[in-house]
Amino acid sequence: IPVLKNRIPKPGGWLMSLLTLGYGGDKLLKLEFLSEYYFYYGLFKFESKIYIFNPRLVRHAINKLEKGAEHYLENSPLKNTLLGSSQKYPETRRAIASLFRKTSIEERAAIMMGDIQEMCEKFRGEPNGVVNVTKWSFLMALDIVGHVLLELDFHALGKKQEEMIRAMAVLHKCYALGEITSDSEEFREANTKFDDITHVVLEEALNIDDDTMQRKRLVKSLHDACGFNEAKDNMKLFLLAGTETTASTIPVALYLLVKYPRLQDELRKEAEELLESVMADPTKLLPKIESFLSEVLRLYPIAPFISRQIYEPVTLGDIHLDQHADVIIFTWGIHRSTHLWDRARDFLPFRFLNNSKTSGNMYIPFGAGSRVCIGQHLAWLELRLALAMMLYQFKFEHAHETPELRFVVDWVHAVIHPDKDFLFRVVSTQNETIKL
Ligand code: HEM
Ligand SMILES: *[C@@H]1O[C@H](CO)[C@@H](O)[C@H](O)[C@H]1NC(C)=O
Ligand SMILES: *[C@@H]1O[C@H](CO)[C@@H](O)[C@H](O)[C@H]1NC(C)=O
Repeated sequence: IPVLKNRIPKPGGWLMSLLTLGYGGDKLLKLEFLSEYYFYYGLFKFESKIYIFNPRLVRHAINKLEKGAEHYLENSPLKNTLLGSSQKYPETRRAIASLFRKTSIEERAAIMMGDIQEMCEKFRGEPNGVVNVTKWSFLMALDIVGHVLLELDFHALGKKQEEMIRAMAVLHKCYALGEITSDSEEFREANTKFDDITHVVLEEALNIDDDTMQRKRLVKSLHDACGFNEAKDNMKLFLLAGTETTASTIPVALYLLVKYPRLQDELRKEAEELLESVMADPTKLLPKIESFLSEVLRLYPIAPFISRQIYEPVTLGDIHLDQHADVIIFTWGIHRSTHLWDRARDFLPFRFLNNSKTSGNMYIPFGAGSRVCIGQHLAWLELRLALAMMLYQFKFEHAHETPELRFVVDWVHAVIHPDKDFLFRVVSTQNETIKL
């Protein structure tokens, strides 16, 4: 793909009016349109930020540029975490990397399945068979972060952690829904509360005697690498990044399976055939379910962009950038580009079955390079097991309360969420309940 040299295009007045006419205030769709419109430039400027979507430029940008998160995370509880600039936290990242490795996560699959099964039991207890999947997948994801990463029993599914969950909901109200600002009293209170709670949780976790453990626990490694306060802040990062992302993906996936019931049946068939062997050995594949999940994260990348900064003049491919600027690697536009993908706007659940369709940096739901999502193996195992276990036991159907799929964007933390809670009618299948 040729890139037109040394010019960063920018929509002028008439194009901006057209965009507003077409998309109103929906900035994500405006940016998607501009990625198509300026495709042959590989990048464009919008509201003073530079959006990059040419895969080759993306590779350079991801590897060469700094995250510079101190600046865009100014008011966020994640300001002092390893999400911050790469110069600041390499030792922290190194200290915990081994716990996030695929094999370490897979070793703890059994405890994860316990949490998923506990969620499934909650589905059975809902009146009228209508289940608030948004709520339950959030609580499940929180329990999984507790168990798998922190080795703590949160019992969020068992109605504990109400204060933490309430504080997280207020943060969500600010960053995702935009209903309150980060200088409001409500936000400040919740932010302080969340800090106090993680403080207590970390103290508790550090006090657990782990002589019997074969490896060092995550909280200990974090604490030794960066001290109490930074360890606490990074715990907030795991609680937020590890919960909201997977918890938002599950309702989106189920929404699509309710819309395409034959696909749901086909994936259920795979679950019936393979679940037992996957539960015995979590390294075993679920090809159709995984292809479907890959396609969900292609069309609806829960992390729709990745932020970087230009601090000094830099050359990306053959483009020279000499201004101080915010750079956005625009995953959403890359994943939906008709220039890069066959039938880009169509939902093709088995697109990834043959595993031959993506080349460098055109599919980056978890980012790439040295700052690739540290939780990707956790997220992936959780999503595939949760989907397989849910489909094995339940049929999901449209309910009167099921909303349409629309997203709100948290521009600070670079994630999207469905704008409404997802409720579905849930009917038990003939299959026996899963025994762990
Ligand atoms: C569907 C689920 C998820 C998606 C789509 C996702 C996506 C991403 C992306 C795109 C990045 C940024 C990469 C960059 O800036 O270059 C990231 C970073 C990160 N993610 Fe995830 N993530 C998910 C789940 C998780 C989970 C379960 C955790 C568990 C703790 C997690 C923890 C993190 C952390 C700590 C970082 C910062 C890493 C760094 O800056 O070095 N994520 N994630
Ligand atoms: C779904 O659960 C959330 C979280 O508990 C709650 O705030 C919301 O009101 C519920 N939605 C509906 C429509 O019941
Ligand atoms: C995958 O490859 C097989 C064999 O090459 C082919 O029969 C099948 O149609 C392909 N599936 C998709 C979804 O492309």
